[in-house]
Amino acid sequence: MVNNILYNDQIVKRDHVVEIEDRGYQFGDGIYEVIGVYDGEPLLMDEHMRRLERSAREIRLDLPAETDKLKKQLQELVQVNGLEEGIIYLQVSRGVAPRLHEFPSANTKAVTVAYTREEPRETDLEDNGGTAVLTEDIRWLRCDIKTLNLLPNVLAKQKAVENNAIEAILHRGDTVTEASASNVFIVKDGKLYTHPADNYILNGITRQKILQLCDELGLKVYEETYTVDDLLNADEVFISATKTDIAPILKVDDKTIGNGMPGDVTKQLVRAFRSLYEKKKA
Ligand SMILES: Cc1ncc(COP(=O)(O)O)c(C=O)c1O
Repeated sequence: MVNNILYNDQIVKRDHVVEIEDRGYQFGDGIYEVIGVYDGEPLLMDEHMRRLERSAREIRLDLPAETDKLKKQLQELVQVNGLEEGIIYLQVSRGVAPRLHEFPSANTKAVTVAYTREEPRETDLEDNGGTAVLTEDIRWLRCDIKTLNLLPNVLAKQKAVENNAIEAILHRGDTVTEASASNVFIVKDGKLYTHPADNYILNGITRQKILQLCDELGLKVYEETYTVDDLLNADEVFISATKTDIAPILKVDDKTIGNGMPGDVTKQLVRAFRSLYEKKKA
């Protein structure tokens, strides 16, 4: 196990113990980011830092440090841990204080913790895809904030795992929103559709990059809502998230998507996404 973590301002051994009255631990009162690392280099770090700043603003949390400083500390953590392939997990909670629901006193400082985890590239998943299950989206109405409150996501993902699926695709009534830990795109007649970046979804960094890649590749993409029926009758479906990047979905519940194979648009985007970090290496 990689043994160093960032704890507030310092890189320390991982045996550091969590305070039991940390508000992240007791209330889920905090925010987080997961950043992919490829060949020792964090990908799309600035975009993750911008989203962290936005999440902090939305929950009225004062980040203890400028994100430029945090970025350097995370890069140092990757180095001291010798991480080549994997992720950085970063969380900032509203700090340690006596357990009362309201915000703690103004002198309570937010607590920053980050660690790295080795994870191989999911090339098999990207190339060959997997299946998904459908489940009702029971989350709150601010899914745009990347907060620590993930219990509905945990329950949804567990349903997927129990059904040998790689993801649980969420729907509010008839509208597909996203998945338990990824965004969802469908392709119909060569056009892509994905839920708009409003309060019902997390605006994934991978999602945003895909929109940009679509633009560069001349692929038409609509940020519009679509229904469960549209999903089941799509030519192609894929999910997107940090480190998974893009994974084709070949079946949803009992319905085969398209011809049951990864589609051409999905494959084109998988190649384009890979070239982002392969180009970096070159
Ligand atoms: C609910 C949800 N949607 C979407 C995503 C994808 O976001 P990103 O591409 O920034 O990893 C995640 C990532 O964990 C997520 O938890």
